[in-house]
Amino acid sequence: MDKIAIVGGGRVGEATTLFLAQQHLAKELVLLDVKGDYAAGTALDIAETSSLFRFDSRIIGSSDMSLLRDAQIVVVTAGFPRKPGMSRSDVLQSNVQIIDAVVENVVKYAPNSIILVVSNPVDIITYRAFKQARFPRNRIFGQAGVLDSARMATFIAQETGYSAKDINAMVLGGHGDAMVPMMRYTTINGIGVEHFLTPEQTAAIIERTRHGGAEVLKLKEISSAYQAPGAATAEMVDAIVHDRKRVLPTVSILEGEYGEHDIAMGVPAVLGKFGMEKVIELELNADEKKMFTDSINGVRQDVALLP
Ligand SMILES: NC(=O)c1ccc[n+]([C@@H]2O[C@H](COP(=O)([O-])OP(=O)(O)OC[C@H]3O[C@@H](n4cnc5c(N)ncnc54)[C@H](O)[C@@H]3O)[C@@H](O)[C@H]2O)c1
Repeated sequence: MDKIAIVGGGRVGEATTLFLAQQHLAKELVLLDVKGDYAAGTALDIAETSSLFRFDSRIIGSSDMSLLRDAQIVVVTAGFPRKPGMSRSDVLQSNVQIIDAVVENVVKYAPNSIILVVSNPVDIITYRAFKQARFPRNRIFGQAGVLDSARMATFIAQETGYSAKDINAMVLGGHGDAMVPMMRYTTINGIGVEHFLTPEQTAAIIERTRHGGAEVLKLKEISSAYQAPGAATAEMVDAIVHDRKRVLPTVSILEGEYGEHDIAMGVPAVLGKFGMEKVIELELNADEKKMFTDSINGVRQDVALLP
C-alpha cells in the first residue's frame, strides 16, 4: 500500500503508527494532529527506530491536514480519552465535534479511502462518521471487538496458564461495558473454553474484559491504554492491506443483519482490500440476544443525543 494516514497523534495514534511501520504495511505513514509540531516530533521519534526495527516506510508527522491527500486508509484516533470515573458516553459530545472536523478533511482530501474509526465512544463515533462522510458502509467501520477479544484471550491465558497463541476469543456488541461475550465461539485451539474453566472463572473473565480499559486506566492513573488498542488497530489494517479476508469483530453499519438497520454495532465481519466486505450473521441464543439488544439500545440512546 502506498499511503496510510493516522489522524490523532496521541498515545493510540503513536502506538498504531509504530506497529504499522514495524509490520511494513505502507510505503508512507502520515501521522496528523492539530497540536502544532507534536505529530512531527512523534513521527521523527518513530522514524528513528527504522534501522533498529528494519523497516523503510517513510514516517511523516504534521498538523497540515492536506497531507491526507490520496491516503488509501485513514485511521482515526483523534479524540479525548476517558479520565478515571468517566464513561465512554461522557466523552461523546467533544469527540463528535472532532470526528466531524476529521471527516470533513478526509472527504476533501481522500474521498476514496477506507476510514477505520478508533475514537470513543467508537460505536457512536463510527455511526456519526458514516453519516457525515456518506461513504458506503464497506469503507467506514470501527475497532472495538478485536481489542476486547484480545483482552479476553489474555485473561483466559492467565487463568489457565496456557499459551495465548492458541486462544481465539470472540466478543461482539458495543465496546467495553456493553460487549457481548460469545463464549460458545471462544476456544483454546478449537476446544471450547468450558473444558478448561469453571462457570465462575468464566464469569470473572467476562467481567474483567468488560472493564479491561478501566482496569488499565485505574492502574496508570494518568493514561488510558494504548499498546493493545494500537496493536488491535494494526491487526485490522493488516487484514485490509493484505486482502486477507479475515473474520474479525468489527464495528459495522448494519443494513438488516441481526434484524437491525441504521446503527453501528460490533459483529463478525470479513476484512479485505475493499474494507468491511461482509457481515457474518450468527444465530444468537436467548442470553446472547438479550445482551446484543441491550447493547444496540445503549448505542441508539447515545445516537439520539447527537446534534
Ligand atoms: N476503540 C478502542 O478500542 C479504543 C481504545 C483506546 C482508546 N480509544 C480512543 O482513542 C482516542 C484517542 O486516545 P488517546 O489515548 O490516543 O488520546 P490522546 O489524548 O493521547 O490523543 C488524542 C489526540 O487527538 C488529537 N486531536 C484532537 N482533535 C483533533 C483533530 N480534529 N484532528 C487531529 N487530531 C486531533 C489531540 O491533539 C491528541 O493528541 C480516544 O477517544 C480514546 O477513548 C479507543
